[in-house]
Amino acid sequence: MRRITVLFASMVVLVMCGAVFAQAGDYVGSERCADCHMDKFNDWKTSGHPYKLRPVEVAKLDALPVPDGYTWDDISYVIGGYRWKARFIDKQGYIITAGKKGEPLATQWNIKSDTWVNYHPGEKKPYKCGPCHMTAYSPEGNQDGLEGLIGTWQAPGIHCEECHGPGDKHVKSEDASDIKIDKTAAGCGKCHIRGVKEKIPAKKGFIRHHEQYNEYLASPHAGKLQCTDCHDPHKPARSGVKVACVSCHKDQGEAYGGSLMARSGVTCVDCHMPRASKSAEKLSPREGDVRTHNWRISTDPKASMFTEDGKYATGILTLDVVCLNCHGGRDIEWAASKVGMVHKTK
Ligand code: HEC
Ligand code: HEC
Ligand code: HEC
Ligand code: HEC
Ligand code: HEC
Ligand code: HEC
Ligand code: HEC
Ligand code: HEC
Repeated sequence: MRRITVLFASMVVLVMCGAVFAQAGDYVGSERCADCHMDKFNDWKTSGHPYKLRPVEVAKLDALPVPDGYTWDDISYVIGGYRWKARFIDKQGYIITAGKKGEPLATQWNIKSDTWVNYHPGEKKPYKCGPCHMTAYSPEGNQDGLEGLIGTWQAPGIHCEECHGPGDKHVKSEDASDIKIDKTAAGCGKCHIRGVKEKIPAKKGFIRHHEQYNEYLASPHAGKLQCTDCHDPHKPARSGVKVACVSCHKDQGEAYGGSLMARSGVTCVDCHMPRASKSAEKLSPREGDVRTHNWRISTDPKASMFTEDGKYATGILTLDVVCLNCHGGRDIEWAASKVGMVHKTK
């Protein structure tokens, strides 16, 4: 039911965005692409990318609550609300961080636990989150003339033309050479990054979120695979992974297959991509809510996933994070003593 409302809602916003695009020359808007690429359009609509920033007219049709004391009439845009959390923007373009009279209030909505948590309580927070949440972002000016919205953009959220470039020429020529395709990890890494790409920022025992590119660069897949070798970028993470690990790692697949854990439904991803990163909330003391892209596991019980000051991840996964979220009653020495049996050819 919720999905149907959301699909309908995104049709409405696309029509609205069309009006913005029409004035912008080279950009034609995602609904124009749908005329000839309906399959891609339908996939994309169910993914997180278009959700990233939604006008209130669309977001209010979703099942989201609003911060205490506010109504939808006080809100101009919603940030996220697809997978992990939502934040709200007021009519002046500022991210809401307090109650209507300025009193302390938790204003970030966490989806998994259905709770409100603090987000920079009481601070004046302009929305300067470009270029990662919008299409064709320019740092100049203020979108919609609202002083809190820093920069301007062709459309809220990540539309077709953010990745494929302006489509005007292509829709007229229908020629493949008039539209861009960027399959490199660096293309995705423009947004799936935090800080400098050589480091993996961490905080309070978790890798921080939106840094899949940083993690990937420190991983054994760097340079060997691109993000799009595994992901269909038009689909949600869960349904859009298009290759199985075993298609490249046959030996490990064969060694693991048939074991009690495999038969119990424990997958490659459960161990090699645990939720070591945190966006909104932790599910347990060592389990966050975003899967890591580091992949390599150290079997040394003394190894550390973080630098001594805790500010960065080292790029390896340790057995506490890998095994003990499921084997809660055990400790890391137990895991180290058992680990040899996982891929038993070794
Ligand atoms: C009027 C129909 C039409 C519209 C509208 C249209 N396309 Fe296409 N598109 C095509 C056709 C036809 C091809 C295949 C061209 C070929 O194979 O030579 C194509 C191919 C593509 C490709 C593949 C290019 C490649 O190198 O293989 C991409 C990407 C693409 N379109 C993106 C878009 C985007 C983004 C939009 C909206 C901005 C869009 N298209 C709008 C007709 C259209
Ligand atoms: C997050 C970036 C991103 C967004 C958003 C995106 N695409 Fe793509 N698209 C890609 C990449 C990367 C490829 C190449 C994928 C590959 O070959 O593995 C691609 C491939 C394509 C292709 C041709 C290849 C094929 O699989 O047939 C078409 C057509 C296309 N996209 C259309 C669209 C349309 C239409 C939209 C919006 C509804 C859109 N894309 C949104 C990144 C994106
Ligand atoms: C460098 C690019 C970048 C910047 C800058 C950025 N974000 Fe994000 N954000 C992302 C990416 C990528 C994700 C999703 C992947 C992840 O979280 O690991 C995300 C996720 C989110 C989500 C969760 C979305 C959901 O559906 O659950 C929220 C909310 C959010 N960001 C808010 C903000 C706010 C507010 C700012 C500015 C203060 C900001 N972000 C700045 C890239 C960025
Ligand atoms: C312009 C910035 C930007 C670019 C470029 C970009 N992303 Fe994203 N991506 C985001 C943001 C922001 C989110 C969070 C959306 C949300 O949850 O609201 C996200 C979410 C995702 C998700 C998880 C959400 C879901 O639908 O399940 C995947 C997977 C993903 N991106 C893959 C890719 C890949 C692969 C590429 C490169 C082809 C790419 N992205 C390029 C900004 C970007
Ligand atoms: C398209 C092929 C491909 C896919 C799919 C793939 N990998 Fe890899 N993987 C590689 C390559 C290439 C390397 C680097 C060469 C090597 O050392 O084997 C690698 C390396 C690794 C390593 C480190 C190996 C070592 O010796 O330290 C791990 C662990 C790993 N992959 C796990 C995974 C997991 C888990 C998945 C599924 C989520 C996966 N891989 C999907 C190709 C792939
Ligand atoms: C129960 C947790 C677990 C599962 C499930 C698991 N692995 Fe592993 N994997 C490990 C550990 C731990 C290591 C490190 C082993 C070592 O270095 O001795 C490892 C090592 C690897 C390596 C590095 C090369 C090697 O053999 O040391 C690859 C590649 C790999 N696994 C792929 C896979 C694939 C593919 C799957 C799914 C079929 C999978 N793993 C399932 C825990 C797991
Ligand atoms: C070896 C395959 C592989 C590569 C390469 C890869 N991913 Fe993933 N990614 C996955 C798998 C598997 C998942 C988990 C899907 C699921 O939840 O079932 C995932 C999940 C995600 C998520 C959502 C996180 C979550 O907790 O659901 C994002 C965002 C993402 N990937 C972005 C990227 C980006 C950006 C790159 C390139 C820098 C990339 N991925 C490279 C396999 C890969
Ligand atoms: C996603 C959850 C999950 C993860 C992660 C996981 N396990 Fe398991 N493990 C299970 C389940 C389920 C079983 C089978 C039923 C049971 O024993 O509860 C099992 C069984 C086992 C057994 C006894 C069964 C046998 O095969 O003889 C050992 C030993 C074991 N796991 C070790 C590990 C180690 C070491 C790791 C980390 C490298 C690990 N597990 C990671 C869920 C997990």
